[in-house]
Amino acid sequence: MNDRTELSRRAQWNAPANRLSIVREERRQSGARILDLTESNPTRASITYPLDALSEAMERAARAPYDPEPLGLRSAREAVAGEIGANAEDIVITASTSEAYSFLFKLLTDPGDAILTATPSYPLLEHLAALELIALRSFPLELHRRWEIESHRVREAIAPRTRAIVVVSPNNPTGSFVTAAEQDVLASFDLPIIADEVFRPYAFEDGAPSIARDDVLTFALGGLSKSAGLPHYKLGWIRVGGPAHAKREVMAALELIADNFLSVATPVQQALPELLRIGATIRESLRTRTRENLDALTRAVELVPAVGLLPVEGGWTAVLRVPRIESDEDLALRLLNEHGVLVHPGYFFDFDREGYLVLSLLTRPDVFAEGVAKIMESIRTQTC
Ligand SMILES: Cc1ncc(COP(=O)(O)O)c(C=O)c1O
Repeated sequence: MNDRTELSRRAQWNAPANRLSIVREERRQSGARILDLTESNPTRASITYPLDALSEAMERAARAPYDPEPLGLRSAREAVAGEIGANAEDIVITASTSEAYSFLFKLLTDPGDAILTATPSYPLLEHLAALELIALRSFPLELHRRWEIESHRVREAIAPRTRAIVVVSPNNPTGSFVTAAEQDVLASFDLPIIADEVFRPYAFEDGAPSIARDDVLTFALGGLSKSAGLPHYKLGWIRVGGPAHAKREVMAALELIADNFLSVATPVQQALPELLRIGATIRESLRTRTRENLDALTRAVELVPAVGLLPVEGGWTAVLRVPRIESDEDLALRLLNEHGVLVHPGYFFDFDREGYLVLSLLTRPDVFAEGVAKIMESIRTQTC
């Protein structure tokens, strides 16, 4: 027998670690301090979780019998519908947003097809697309006073095999909304629209409308992971919109896909109405956290002319514009090696040029303030 296992070519199974993660690992192993400004896991962000209320809710839910429902328990679909202002018939419960993407790619694409998204963008999309054997094409968001979607950019990027447009609103990492006018632009291409709205509850300004249209198929994604700070409870949802006949067809197909997995645990579905109620308080703590860090960052940036804070409309990330003296990766490596500060270089998110660092607004405020002060000091010294 061949001693090399033949794996599929969907993914680069042994992709080498990037330089930043190698240095981060070395520092971890050596016990060196790291001011981690990339923390995006709410359960590690020193937020107080109402653990008693959560365990009581799960204890009650543990008594529920197994009642497999591919689209989700009726009570769970109704709870989501109540939360986001939708009809329960339009809701599909999934184990996560990632699973929602995978269901939708199965629904809308064949191997070799493409989906289109905006860059800078959520890095996982590339991997989720690859695992479904589809290509990820992109159009750039244009940064004017805000990050904008321009119709001609979308048009230029659509190829004959493009089957859907994916947008994230507010976007990770640019924090930009897809406005109502931009939704109209996207709909004009007559392709299904998948709108990842997991960060929608974290708006710093008046929020953009959730997507739900009658003219084209729309899929709005949300979940406990961000809206309730409960990524480990593994429950997300899709809200389907579109012309009535298309919606019926899509719901039947999604039911068939989901029936093969039945992946959402019954207890978490059973507990969902309570989890959503409890999640509102967790969300409030996370909102306070992101607002506090954004304010601190705004103040710090005002003191250093060489650094700019790009507009943030919502979400958990902020983008700094930094001088292009070295590559973003070199800058991030230097910040880590010399100051123990960990940030993401812009290229992780497919920025089309150098000069950007991405910071997580979820970081513990004292760590955030110290890390930001070190970044500012390092850039100030370098540019003086
Ligand atoms: C844009 C975006 N969508 C989805 C997710 C993950 O959601 P889930 O845990 O439900 O898969 C993330 C996590 O960082 C994200 O940034």
